[in-house]
Amino acid sequence: MSLGAGPLIIAIDGPAAAGKGTLARRIAAHLHIPYLDTGLLYRAVGRRVLDAGADPADPRAAEAAARALTDADLARTDLRGPEADRAAAAVASIPGVRAALLAFQRGFGAARGAVLDGRDIGTVIFPDARLKLFVTASLEARARRRWLELQARGVAAELATVTADMQARDAADAARAAAPLRPAEDAILLDTTALDADQAFAEAMAHVGAG
Ligand code: CDP
Repeated sequence: MSLGAGPLIIAIDGPAAAGKGTLARRIAAHLHIPYLDTGLLYRAVGRRVLDAGADPADPRAAEAAARALTDADLARTDLRGPEADRAAAAVASIPGVRAALLAFQRGFGAARGAVLDGRDIGTVIFPDARLKLFVTASLEARARRRWLELQARGVAAELATVTADMQARDAADAARAAAPLRPAEDAILLDTTALDADQAFAEAMAHVGAG
């Protein structure tokens, strides 16, 4: 690992269900630094807006929800699933929502360093991160993983629907004007289509070691 200045920040970005969370959690545990799933922030904002009976695409409602976010919101058990996916992506396209969540994310990594996963960690939140990984996998592989996750949680879903929803959300995340999903110029691409969790971890750690 390099002797760069400041806390060790590892940024992990990529499309839905690419394996970011599993990988980020393992790296953080291995390095004994905190982990933040930034997608949860957008999911929790989306949930608050839905609770208020408002439209997640409404900037005023979404920004108010983002400013009012608490730790308890992040611990909710209804942050996953198709409705939460759509609400998260809708609020995430609103610049004021992203602005309201910026300081928390930067502060999270400030003291002890951190691994963060999301869409814009390497491009916007921590452009100077020590290591940036952009984790991808084929749409088919990602949709199958998400479908298996839903099944494990007892949620009935058609693979074709999961695939179509995921493709639409990725396209929206990549096309939006505010912090679009894209690899940072200095990100290392990690394609997990043919890798299991152990293999992805080994590959990522080779870059941590080389960083
Ligand atoms: O788990 P999955 O990869 O499906 O999604 P997630 O990481 O929980 O993110 C849910 C949604 O939040 C994404 O589709 C993005 O629209 C948004 N998001 C974002 O804009 N920026 C982040 N740093 C993290 C998530």
